[in-house]
Amino acid sequence: MKTLITEKQIRTKVFELAEEIARDNSSGKLHVLFVLKGAFIFCADLVRALGSHNLDVTVDYIIAKSYVGTESTGDVECSVDVNIKGREVLLLEDIIDTGRTIKRLKDELMKMKPKSLRTVCLLDKPSRRDVDMKADYVGFEIGDRFVVGYGLDYDEQYRHLPFIAEIE
Ligand code: IMP
Ligand code: MG
Repeated sequence: MKTLITEKQIRTKVFELAEEIARDNSSGKLHVLFVLKGAFIFCADLVRALGSHNLDVTVDYIIAKSYVGTESTGDVECSVDVNIKGREVLLLEDIIDTGRTIKRLKDELMKMKPKSLRTVCLLDKPSRRDVDMKADYVGFEIGDRFVVGYGLDYDEQYRHLPFIAEIE
């Protein structure tokens, strides 16, 4: 295991993202929807960083699951049961790989007619994309490698690590 992004780098980035997101917000209210399970730590840190920008933040989760081990199974199961009509929404994901998960969730959420829907991911692997998808806010772009830590798992292991590491 090799550290790719340190705890300090993550902390700095989270504050930068919060600042950008707050700047783009128009209603003073933001409903954050995070994708379980991987995004739980990123969400916890980002919403607290948003708190210092005088935003009225609410939080809910959605469930999406497509991975077994290090392989994407291709289909995305998602359970979306949230009321976002007319609200300013931020869809928060840990990592975008093929782009299928976030694309699918975004399409489902758009049907519910939010006032706006923006997307944020901590990590992005643009070289792995097989659907057209770009998040509005991206923490770090990384290459084609499997990473763990800061919420991300390898078969449910390593989510608790405070940094991002690469499995060799
Ligand atoms: P996508 O649908 O292929 O974009 O996959 C996105 C989901 O796959 C993410 O929400 C993660 O849960 C998982 N994932 C993708 N790459 C990695 C990785 O490098 N480590 C851990 N999980 C990953
Ligand atoms: Mg995930």
